[in-house]
Amino acid sequence: MLPVVVVHGGAGHIPKERSEKSTEGVCSAVRAGYVVLKRGGSSMDAVVEAVTHLENNPAFNAGCGSVLNVKGEVEMDAIVMEGKTLGSGAVSAVRNIANPIQLTRLVMDKTSHACLTAEGASQFARSMGVPEVPMESLITEYARMRWRKNLVPDANPVECQMGKMGTVGAVAVDSEGNVACATSTGGMLNKMEGRVGDTPCIGSGGYADNQSGAVSTTGHGEAIMKVTLARLILFHMEQGQSAEAASDLGLAYMKSRVSALGGVVTVDPQGQWAARFSSHQMSWAAAQKDTLHYGLYVGEHFTQGIDEPLLQGI
Ligand code: GLY
Repeated sequence: MLPVVVVHGGAGHIPKERSEKSTEGVCSAVRAGYVVLKRGGSSMDAVVEAVTHLENNPAFNAGCGSVLNVKGEVEMDAIVMEGKTLGSGAVSAVRNIANPIQLTRLVMDKTSHACLTAEGASQFARSMGVPEVPMESLITEYARMRWRKNLVPDANPVECQMGKMGTVGAVAVDSEGNVACATSTGGMLNKMEGRVGDTPCIGSGGYADNQSGAVSTTGHGEAIMKVTLARLILFHMEQGQSAEAASDLGLAYMKSRVSALGGVVTVDPQGQWAARFSSHQMSWAAAQKDTLHYGLYVGEHFTQGIDEPLLQGI
């Protein structure tokens, strides 16, 4: 199989002035994940590294840069899953954590549970020595501005859609053929306090199984949960569809059945990969065989060599 890591920075409508940052962000995150794979790290190490980069980048709706709930606060959801054991870890409605994705890995590795929520997740984070950060450090001016705009009852619907993009994620295959996924989000803009989306729900925000592949999803959480999008795509792969065809089938079903758009990154255990979306845009990037692939609009697929300095010393 061919080791690969694929990331997305959220499906949706990315304003022109933010599209460059979004593309740069996914390319930088995928490089970070790829270096982990090249150094012999596992697919789980690679997806956590890539998503940590995306959470630390204020251009994305995850970690710093998360959208705000109706009270103007940050509540984040995240999941990881590994295909060898079907082990998973998730957190929902967590606050004051810079990298929820790292906390999900601790849930997977250090507890017998699949998901911890809200204050219980915070207590667990404290017990693991994960530092708490002030909520303000996760809030960008852009997120605050959009929150204010959306509080206005007659907010312009087009403006409300602009920049409405959710969720970051990654999938990977390592040199042993193990697959993994990781997904992290601030959720939906102006959501109710305590709202939990698809991201931490196994089979919706992500799924990984060495017998079929791994998927990370992005889009409207309530719709993704209705069709358990990640698991649906892997079902199609179990029926013999390629990563690309299965992704398109899953997204088409979500569109026809619940009128919702979204996006996914998908791998199979042999290293075939896909970045597919039914939304206007999705920033995505993949790294395989020392080549970087990336795009933003439907049909866009740029490639370039991964720079030597990055790979030196590996
Ligand atoms: N897919 C992100 C959310 O709805 O929370």
